[in-house]
Amino acid sequence: MVGIVINRLWVLCCAAVALTIFVPIVRTQQPLAGGEAALNSTEINHRNADYEYEYDAEWPRLNRTLGSVSAVAFDPSGNVVIFHRGRHVWNLLSFDQQNRYLQEKDGPIGESTLLIFHNESGALVGEWGANLFFMPHGLTIDRNNSYWITDVALHQVFKFDLTVSSTKPVMTLGVRFEPGKDHEHFCKPTSVAVLDNGDFFVADGYCNGRVNKYSADGRLILSWGKNSFVLTRTFMLPAGPIPVNFFAIPHALTYAADKKLICVADREQGRVQCFNANNGAFHSMYESPRIGSRLFSVKYIPRDGGLLYVVNGPQFTTAEPVNGLVMSMTSKEIVGRFFPEHAFSNPHELAVSEDGAQVYVAELNPHKVHKFKRKSSLPEIPTPILDPAESKVETFPPSDQPVLYTGALTTIPIVVSLVGIGCMVVCLFRTFCVKSRGGRRQRFSTPSENISLREMGEDREA
Ligand SMILES: *[C@@H]1O[C@H](CO)[C@@H](O)[C@H](O)[C@H]1NC(C)=O
Ligand SMILES: *[C@@H]1O[C@H](CO)[C@@H](O)[C@H](O)[C@H]1NC(C)=O
Ligand SMILES: *[C@@H]1O[C@H](CO)[C@@H](O)[C@H](O)[C@H]1NC(C)=O
Ligand SMILES: *[C@@H]1O[C@H](CO)[C@@H](O)[C@H](O)[C@H]1NC(C)=O
Repeated sequence: MVGIVINRLWVLCCAAVALTIFVPIVRTQQPLAGGEAALNSTEINHRNADYEYEYDAEWPRLNRTLGSVSAVAFDPSGNVVIFHRGRHVWNLLSFDQQNRYLQEKDGPIGESTLLIFHNESGALVGEWGANLFFMPHGLTIDRNNSYWITDVALHQVFKFDLTVSSTKPVMTLGVRFEPGKDHEHFCKPTSVAVLDNGDFFVADGYCNGRVNKYSADGRLILSWGKNSFVLTRTFMLPAGPIPVNFFAIPHALTYAADKKLICVADREQGRVQCFNANNGAFHSMYESPRIGSRLFSVKYIPRDGGLLYVVNGPQFTTAEPVNGLVMSMTSKEIVGRFFPEHAFSNPHELAVSEDGAQVYVAELNPHKVHKFKRKSSLPEIPTPILDPAESKVETFPPSDQPVLYTGALTTIPIVVSLVGIGCMVVCLFRTFCVKSRGGRRQRFSTPSENISLREMGEDREA
């Protein structure tokens, strides 16, 4: 009897799951001119007046096919560098349940994975990085033109100084092809941010959900953060807002030097979390209904009190368009936007010039890098140079605005989605947790990139 009831519930669950997936798909099929949300044109013009961008379809001038472009960054001369995956594709066959890379035997990517372009002309001015990497992820270039690279297949972080060698890194962290969570190992590390004194942060990453800080010589000096993937959260965390130090993939980092903050793109929780760069203490959170529930990357520029440039991603449960947005750190309002002619599909990383005049977005699929130029140049606002000793970290109260997608969703889809999500959780719980009680690491997959799950009980480190 009980069995029959459970079976019925199972059918209902699956119907609800199907609806949950179906409803957002139907909604996104509606024409979204250039990625417009449910805002009227007055609102759009008003909200985006300050930082409007136009798309430069002619950039770059490239005579070859790119792979998935995972990252883009400025070098100190103002060139734009991209990091791409060549013929390698991150799919369900790339990793096993323990996050070990399965395609090592195919060898590293044979072509140049790093391409250097002139920011104006779009001409290719340099290239390197052949036969070194397996699954490129993050790229950061510091003020001394050192390249900081993360490879999620190798589970390693590299520092390359091209004046020394373009084939041998000057620093390597992590153990080749070995995922782990201790002082020696990473698990699919995503991103690096470098301070002016050479200290650096690593976002680690898909499975560990932590941020580590290192001294310039590579000593671990600080670590914080826990993995809060939605399933884990549902069962292990108390009800209420997601705690500030829980990440569902810390996917990109940006350093706000004038504020002494390290900010993290908390990808599957659709928010930017900023922390005191000295001690890792939580400082502030940034989110918006216009970003939605997924946020792939963030970059900071010190203009107008601090601006965060973000790219969101394809949404699972809402109909927010995939685009780039500019958020003011002081008002937490969206003050600008950038998107290509035919909207983004899978933007993954971005680079912004210090003055905000140029924005570049790396896209996994289609394999592209996009350039945007600010339409109107604003009068130069001198940014006060604060003496480091006197500089004061501004404090903002954590955002307590409820995120209701009333602009984009009607009541019925909201109800259906809530029921569906609830049931999906039960379904997945039945599938995974019930049969592997006290479960080890588990896995959930999305079309573009995989998400590793980890029971929080396993977390041992502070
Ligand atoms: C657009 O939205 C604004 C603010 O919500 C409102 O004042 C205005 O009347 C709306 N305009 C149209 C054409 O709907
Ligand atoms: C692009 O490639 C074609 C064929 O490989 C070659 O003929 C042409 O000169 C190349 N153009 C540039 C600008 O490199
Ligand atoms: C673009 O490159 C030129 C050098 O070729 C440089 O002077 C300029 O600052 C760069 N622009 C940006 C926004 O970095
Ligand atoms: C750049 O090099 C100088 C001199 O070696 C050093 O003092 C500085 O910390 C370095 N900066 C970074 C970001 O590594």
